[in-house]
Formats: sequence, structure tokens, C-alpha cells
Amino acid sequence: MGIADMDFKAAPVITEALQARMKHENWGYLDMGKATPELTGAVAAWNKKRYGVDIDPSTMVLSAGVHPALIAALLTFSPKGSKVLLQTPTYNGFYSDLRFTQTQPEDVPLKLANGKYSMDFDEFERRISIDTHSFILCNPQNPTGNCWSADDLTRIGEICLKHRVVVLADEIHCDWVTKGQKYTPFASLPNKAIVNNSLTFKAASKSFGLAAHKVAWFYSTNPELLARVKVNHRADLNTMGLIASQAAVTGGEDWLNQCVEYIDGNHDFVAKFVAANLPMVKYSKPQGTYLAWLDVSAVADKINAKALAAEHNRTKPANAPTLTPEQMIERYFVKHAKVHMNQGASYGTGGANHMRMNIATSRKLVELALTNLATALKGNQTNFV
Ligand SMILES: Cc1ncc(COP(=O)(O)O)c(C=O)c1O
Repeated sequence: MGIADMDFKAAPVITEALQARMKHENWGYLDMGKATPELTGAVAAWNKKRYGVDIDPSTMVLSAGVHPALIAALLTFSPKGSKVLLQTPTYNGFYSDLRFTQTQPEDVPLKLANGKYSMDFDEFERRISIDTHSFILCNPQNPTGNCWSADDLTRIGEICLKHRVVVLADEIHCDWVTKGQKYTPFASLPNKAIVNNSLTFKAASKSFGLAAHKVAWFYSTNPELLARVKVNHRADLNTMGLIASQAAVTGGEDWLNQCVEYIDGNHDFVAKFVAANLPMVKYSKPQGTYLAWLDVSAVADKINAKALAAEHNRTKPANAPTLTPEQMIERYFVKHAKVHMNQGASYGTGGANHMRMNIATSRKLVELALTNLATALKGNQTNFV
């Protein structure tokens, strides 16, 4: 129940499109002059219909993933050693992008009250210094699930504009919104100066389970920002990936809507199950994503995770990796519940004592995983592999 991809069979339109292309049996270079406008046009139409945002397809750049695109942007705006703002807990993959570009994370913790996360605007502004040039926004936020409101985005956008910090809006989770919640694209904000200070990064990969196809896109209303990023960006795209994304955004909406509804049901199921059977776990239904962010502080106390990690690190062979308390919890659940989840500390400041559970799977499997966790936590097992 770890890495963020889905267990479901792909939408039939995607499989059909890939099968049709397979029949051609020739794999020479793809005509990007034709493939690019086809896909960017379809993505723009999808964005207009689904989120009401106008994107000029000619301002859209295809990429082999959100990571390579973000890396190109970081290389453009954030010199080596400079700071990149993150609102934490946030997607752990951003830290690898920062390592790759030799930039420094500036973690600005989200505020947490009564199980709800919110942005800390004052702290965010305080953390900006002369060497802060970009901010990676995650909307909806992985792992907390927050769908940021137009007010949140406007306030954070104003601060960034004032301090000349470019907003890199990663909106890859935008389709996973729970009932009664709303995804607001950063690019849809009414203040054009704020939007012009941003680039948006997206893909069909989370929405349609296409991560292995390696296709994503980014766009900006600011031609200067876009031109500068393009200098540092090269996408080697593959035919099947483009076909899969094209089929998804032209014919996949019904499938996606059904899937979003099913995942919403999974979230309700998790909330109910945790409340009834997992007194050691704190959980609130998130606003978005297919991830459940579980507060396992009481589990950490029960198994004495800090002391276990310290003991492990004291006695381990010199060349073995050191372990954090979260990794002890992660191991505990693997050994005693046969459930693997992602340990919270890897999501930056504020992530400790949490586990991220991917629930984009059958409700049966979610139930089995939760039942196993409940059974393990009722026992007294403390031994580790
Ligand atoms: C917020 C966020 N951005 C980016 C990615 C990865 O994007 P890609 O596979 O397109 O590089 C993920 C994957 O989990 C993610 O959660």
C-alpha cells in the first residue's frame, strides 16, 4: 500500500488505442510535429471541460514525467545551493529533485489543528531570503490530501510574486477530489500577475494509472518563464506513452469519474474502519488524492520506536544503513500485519509519526490491510525481522 499508483486495470479506451497501434508493427521515430499538437490540443480541451481553465496549447510543453519537468524548472530558477520552498509534509520525490539540482529544501510546515492541515502564510514569508527563487506547490497536496482553495492559492501566490519566487505548481493529483471538495487550478486564479509568476505541471499518469508510460506536460501563461525552462528541458517521448495519454484525455472521462467515486468510497471506508477498530490511529478523510495519511504516534509509543531505532543503530554492522523510528514502524507493520506503507518522515518536517497508505485498490484489499493492522495492534508483538 505504498508507492502512488493504482491497482486497477487501465480504462478500456487506453488498452484499445494501444492495441490498435501495436498492429502497425513499426517503431521508427515518431513524428513529433504531428503528435505534439494532437496531445496538447486534447489536454487543453480536457482542462477546459473538466476544470474550466483556458490553456493555450502552444504554451504547453510535453515531458517524460513531472520529475524531469520540475528539474528543468529548478535548474532554470534556482542556482546550486539556493533554497526551494516546500510546504511540508509534502511529496518525498521533491527532495530527490532538489538533490539532483543541488538545491536546498526550505521546509515550511503546514499548520495542523484538529486533524486539518492549513497553510502558514506568515512562516512561509518569513522563510524567504535573498537566495529563495522557487516554491514547489503541491495541489492537491500529497500526502495530506489538501485541495487548496482560491484564497489559499492567491495569498501564497501574492507572497511569491512580492518576493520574486516562481511558483512551480505540481497538480498531478488534481482528479482525485473527494465528495464536496474542489480542486482549484493555480492557473485559474483571477489575478493574472500571480498566474504569470507560475508554471503548472501535470500528467494523466495519476488519473489513469499510466506512470510507466512516462508522459507529462507543463505550461505557463508567461512566455518568458516558459522559454527559460525550455532551454533546460529535453523530452525523449515514446509512442505508446503519447497514445495512452491521448486516449485517456479524449475518451477516459467516464472511466475516471467512476474510479474517483470508488476511491471516495474507499476513503469513507477507511475513516469508518479506523474510527471503529484502530484506536491507536488518528485519521480524517482527506479532501483529495487516493492516499490515506495516518497518524500513528500512539503506535510509535506502543512499540517504543525511538528506542528500537536507537538500539538498532547502536548494534548494526558498520556498513548497514541507520534506521529512523518511522522505519521501525514501517517494519513493524510489514512483519506483523503484512502491510507495507510509506513512512511519514520522508515527507519532510511534520511527517514523522505518520504512515501514508495508498488506497487506490479494491475495497476488499483495503479491508484486509486494515483488518491486519487492527489485529497486529491488538497483539503484543515487538520483535522485528
Ligand atoms: C506530487 C507528485 N508529483 C510528481 C509525481 C511523479 O510524477 P512523474 O511520474 O510524472 O515523474 C508524483 C508521484 O507520486 C507525485 O505524487
